[in-house]
Amino acid sequence: MIHLENIVKTFPGKEQNIHAVRDVTLDIEEGEIYGIVGYSGAGKSTLVRCINFLETPDSGTVAVKGFGAYSVQGKKILRKAEGSDNYVTAKTGDLQELRRDMGMIFQHFNLLDRSTIFENVAYPLKHTGLSKEEIKDRVVELLELVNLTDKINAYPSELSGGQKQRVAIARALANKPLILLSDEATSALDPDATESILNLLKDLNKRLGLTIVLITHEMAVVKTICDKVAVMEDGRVVEEGKVYDVFSNPQQEITKKFVSTTIGMGNVEKLLLKEASPIKPGEDGVLIKCIYDKDCVGEAVISETSRKYNVNINIVLANVEMIQDSPLGGLVVIVQGDDDQIDKAIGHLRACRVEVEVIEDGRMARIHHA
Ligand SMILES: Nc1ncnc2c1ncn2[C@@H]1O[C@H](COP(=O)(O)OP(=O)(O)OP(=O)(O)O)[C@@H](O)[C@H]1O
Ligand SMILES: [Mg+2]
Repeated sequence: MIHLENIVKTFPGKEQNIHAVRDVTLDIEEGEIYGIVGYSGAGKSTLVRCINFLETPDSGTVAVKGFGAYSVQGKKILRKAEGSDNYVTAKTGDLQELRRDMGMIFQHFNLLDRSTIFENVAYPLKHTGLSKEEIKDRVVELLELVNLTDKINAYPSELSGGQKQRVAIARALANKPLILLSDEATSALDPDATESILNLLKDLNKRLGLTIVLITHEMAVVKTICDKVAVMEDGRVVEEGKVYDVFSNPQQEITKKFVSTTIGMGNVEKLLLKEASPIKPGEDGVLIKCIYDKDCVGEAVISETSRKYNVNINIVLANVEMIQDSPLGGLVVIVQGDDDQIDKAIGHLRACRVEVEVIEDGRMARIHHA
């Protein structure tokens, strides 16, 4: 649906240039909700603004189904029409069309405060050749879609944040786009409004087959509605994949950090490692964290391991996350028993595809003392 290739965007800075986007290549499939996460300044907004040319890349290619491909080469924007083999200089109208036919929503809604909800939603329908009647019908239809028909004559100031974002979504969908770009659309909302907007986006994605590119700094949002996720750091995509895979097996440090902000197990190590922590493995035990995914029933493996190696396994903390309707489990346990049996038990867990991390090895303290 969207193919980005070698996108580069640099802004001139006072002392040095700001490399907002450094050579990003990625693919977004039709009907997908594609999350982009990263810390402030990572280049998320700039990258997404390059998709609809709100920002013109310095170089690179943007191909969008139905619009052909745009390629920026040395200050020139070239266009290859859908089905054609040749690039020709792009016309201003082409880019306007691209911008108009891709919906976009923002953190602060960007509504026209002095216009009614009707006028806000009708705004992008101006100059589209529709009659007054047709525009009215379309606006009502759009407001029905976001469940806000009763506010048609209200002003934005009379609406809650969640309702304002619904208006913004209705406006973004006015020209029946196939793609919606969402830049931190829930960042200014409370948890309830966030949930309801995310449900709406998921619903629109399913019902209209809308492809959604969703920027967020919250992994909880990604976990709730995204199919795939890209992690950006310093202008680059450093990790990318299906949400479940990224959550169950993050590769990069930054991804691990992001994942730990939403997985309930995230910060337990820090707490357990504190001097004052009442949870200690003892001198014949090891405190470990186990993560197991949908292909492995963690609890069953634990009791089997305990029996097989004659070790005690005490569960200190257990947690199951649902990601994309699949469980991702985590356990913190103390394994106690003979030294070599403990090692074998841990080896067995790993052989059963449980990811094991040793938090504290009590046996080390004993060896130290001896
Ligand atoms: N119009 C601009 N002019 C100059 N520098 C810019 C401009 N837009 C963005 N930048 C810079 O480019 C870098 C990436 O910015 P961008 O807004 O894409 O990051 P972001 O990941 O969206 O951050 P945030 O989470 O804070 O929204 C930052 O260093 C930013 O200061
Ligand atoms: Mg941004």
